[in-house]
Amino acid sequence: MATPAPSKKVILSGIQPTNRLQLGNYLGAIKNWVKLQKDFDCHYMAVDLHAITARQDPQELRNNTYTAIALYIASGVDLEHCSLFVQSHVPQHSQLAWLLNCYGYMGELSRMTQYKDKSSKAGANIPVGLFTYPLLMAADILLYDTHLVPVGDDQKQHLELTRDVAQRLNGLYGDDTFVVPEPYIAPVAARIMDLLNPTTKMSKSAVNENGSLFLTDSPADIEKKFKRAETDSGKEIRFDEENKPGVSNLLSIQSAITGESIAAIEARYVNKMYGHLKVETAEIVKQELAPIQKRTQELLGDKAELERILKTGAEKATAKAEVTLRRLHERIGFILR
Ligand code: TYM
Repeated sequence: MATPAPSKKVILSGIQPTNRLQLGNYLGAIKNWVKLQKDFDCHYMAVDLHAITARQDPQELRNNTYTAIALYIASGVDLEHCSLFVQSHVPQHSQLAWLLNCYGYMGELSRMTQYKDKSSKAGANIPVGLFTYPLLMAADILLYDTHLVPVGDDQKQHLELTRDVAQRLNGLYGDDTFVVPEPYIAPVAARIMDLLNPTTKMSKSAVNENGSLFLTDSPADIEKKFKRAETDSGKEIRFDEENKPGVSNLLSIQSAITGESIAAIEARYVNKMYGHLKVETAEIVKQELAPIQKRTQELLGDKAELERILKTGAEKATAKAEVTLRRLHERIGFILR
């Protein structure tokens, strides 16, 4: 008799469906989701509950959520290996977030650099959700007994907090209360930089849109944005993040898309000009995104099918999340319903 295959380890990740997704979301997250999917039991979400920590236009939020899900599928997320769902469809996320609110500490949340950064821009009225956000993220991860969380470098601190909170609860209620997750941060493209200002991270909400390459940008926009990309003084094309952040960013983008090593790419650019690097990077990005954009549009043309996929994903996710939540309720001392 064949020995049963060991059950696969669990992956979970998500992206906020705010504005348009940008190249950093694709290279830092989605592309790695696809790379890892066959070897894991994967859960990928559009985290709409996180999105409302900043004010959203309702119609735009709904459209962005459909688009995010369509982009995941168009990028190669395979429904055979992955559950795709919308965070708000699985109420256990909010429920566990409340419980974790009672175990997370003000001090550790105040140290989150993303909170410091975003709250400094929020004006006088800072939503409480912006502060407690990392505990909602911890709930997302811990609900599924997640082993691995593929994210970009900017989420590392939130992952560390998740691990701390999981270990704290394990100390109180037993080591098997939560699986303590590991981050998966790929060596290349963990932090794609703004094209105009390559010392800051590329983001969905950059002040100048020309610094962000959106996944829905037209070929003409892609060419234009790379042509204008900030390169550094000097002429040499080599990877040096400190002294040549702009050039290094373009080399990372190429490497993350083609899989070619940075050294091999540098070797191709000996005695070439920055202009060559920009034009060729634009070309590589255009070729990568064209089929994804086409497929995304096709998927968005059939909302009923997307909703069917999300319903299946939410049902699967809810079943698993409920088991974890009940386990914690029982250990905390709640009477189970
Ligand atoms: P979000 O929506 O800001 O970003 C989604 C993913 O994209 C990565 N990323 C980048 N990677 C490389 N270079 C960049 N410039 C860049 N910009 C963004 C992010 O690291 C992230 O992996 N809190 C999360 C969403 C979240 C989540 C989760 C993630 C909620 N719950 C549970 C993992 C597991 C966020 O705001 O990501």
